[in-house]
Amino acid sequence: MRSNRTPSHGFSISRRRLLGASAAGLGLAALPALPGRAEARAFSLAPGPARVKLLADPKAQAADVWAFSGSVPGPVVRARQGERLSIRLGNGLDRATTLHCHGLRLPNGMDGVPELTQAPVAPGGAFVYEFDLPDAGTYWYHPHTQTSEQVGRGLYGALIVEEKEPPKVDRELVWVMDDWRIDDAGALTAEFNHPHDISHGGRIGNLITVNGAELEDVPVRAGERIRLRLINAANGRVFGLRFEGLDPQVIAIDGHPVAPHAPEGGRVVMGPGQRRDLIVDMAGKPGDRLAVVDDYFERFTYTFATFVHEPGSALRSSPLDAPMALAANPLPEPDLAAAVTSDIVIEGGAMGGLRQAMYQGEKLSLMDLWRRHRKVWVLNGVASSGFTEDPMFKLQRGRSYRWRLKNDTAWDHPMHLHGHAFRILTRNGKPAAHRTWSDTVLLHADDEVEIAFVADNPGKWLFHCHVLEHHFGGMGTVVDVA
Ligand code: C2O
Ligand code: CU
Repeated sequence: MRSNRTPSHGFSISRRRLLGASAAGLGLAALPALPGRAEARAFSLAPGPARVKLLADPKAQAADVWAFSGSVPGPVVRARQGERLSIRLGNGLDRATTLHCHGLRLPNGMDGVPELTQAPVAPGGAFVYEFDLPDAGTYWYHPHTQTSEQVGRGLYGALIVEEKEPPKVDRELVWVMDDWRIDDAGALTAEFNHPHDISHGGRIGNLITVNGAELEDVPVRAGERIRLRLINAANGRVFGLRFEGLDPQVIAIDGHPVAPHAPEGGRVVMGPGQRRDLIVDMAGKPGDRLAVVDDYFERFTYTFATFVHEPGSALRSSPLDAPMALAANPLPEPDLAAAVTSDIVIEGGAMGGLRQAMYQGEKLSLMDLWRRHRKVWVLNGVASSGFTEDPMFKLQRGRSYRWRLKNDTAWDHPMHLHGHAFRILTRNGKPAAHRTWSDTVLLHADDEVEIAFVADNPGKWLFHCHVLEHHFGGMGTVVDVA
C-alpha cells in the first residue's frame, strides 16, 4: 500500500474507515459533534512550494510542485450537509492566489474569482471563506488565479460534503486524478499556457497520478463494497475508465445524486472539473487482479489501476444487500414552460472554421486575435478577456433559463457554471439519460446539449471551459444574476 503525505486523504483514511466499519456497522466514521449550531467547521489551507514524489519508482526524485499545506492533493476538506464551513487561505506562494470551491452553491463573495468576486490574496496575505453547505456530494477546491499554472503545478484538493445518511459501504476511497507533464529527470516542464495547448486539447500530461502519486495496485477484499469518489483535477485530460470484471454503479454526478446506474457504454467518462461517485462491489475471488483501464484515447489505452483481491477468505460471498441511492439535494427545479431560452455557440481552436471574433469591443481577425492576445476560442463570437468583462448574460434572479450549448469545434469542452447546478435535458436532440444535475457538462466535438437551471444565486458568476488553457484562450464569460 502506498504511503500518504497527510493522514487525511486517500488510503490512510480508507484504512481508518475500514477499521471503524466493523465497530460501527457502517462504512463511515461519525464526525465529532459541533460545539454550537452557528460554529463553522474550520480548515486552513496554505498554498506554497513543496517537493512531492510523483513517480512510484523508489529511486525517482521528488518533483518541485506547488501544494496546499505541503501535500498534493491538499488535505481533504470534509464536512457534513447542513453545516457551515470555514476555510482560511494563507498564501505562501510568491504570487497572488484565490480559493475556488468548485461546484458548491455558495454566496458570490466566497466564490474565489479574482477581481470578479474578491481582490486576489497577495503573497503572505490571507482570506477566510465561510459559507453554509446546502448540498451533499463530492466537490473540490483549487485556485482561480493563473489557474492553468497554479492547478497544473499541483494546487487542488478534495472537498467532501457527507450526506446526513450515507449509503452503507465497507470503505470509501477518494481518488483525485491528474496528469503531469514531466521531463526525463522527473521535473515538471515549466511552460504553462503553451500556444499549442491553448489552441488544441490543453496541457495534457505524460504522467498520470491519483492522490499525487502513480497508482498501481489497490488492495481490496473479495466481496467488499467500496464507494469511490472520483475527481478529475487535470488541466485538460478527459478520463474514460472501464472496470474489468466489475459492475460499478454511478450514484452521483458532479456531487449530485442520480438513480444508481451502470455507466453508459460501460465507461466512466470525466472531463476536467467533473466528479463521479461510484459504488463498486469487489466481485473477484481472493487473489484476482481486476484492471481499471482508461481507453478514452484509443491509441493511448493504459491500465489506470488494478484492484488486487487479497488472498485468503472473502469479506462476503455475495454482494452487500443494501440500498445505494442517495437522497436528493435541495435544488430548485427549473420551470421549463416559463424558461428563457438562449443559444451558446462554442467556436475556435485548431482545425476550426472561426475567421473573426469580438475582443474587448473590437472586431479582430482570428490571426490578430491570436497574435496580439493569444485568444483563439469564443462563445457566441466573443473571446473572453478576463474576469471583469461585461456579462454576456444578464439573468433575472429566480427565473428559469434554458441554454442550448453547441460545440462547433474539433475539441472536447467541459463547460462549467459557477454558483449553480443545472439539469442536463438533452444531448444531440435526445432526452439525456437520468436528467442529471451537474456543474460541468462535457461536450464532445459537434455535440449539442441543452441545460436548464434557476438563476437563484445573485452575483456575477463565471461560465467557462474547464480545460484551463481553453479558458485562458478566451473560452469563458460572465453571467450576472440580479
Ligand atoms: Cu473549477 Cu471556474 O472552476
Ligand atoms: Cu474547452
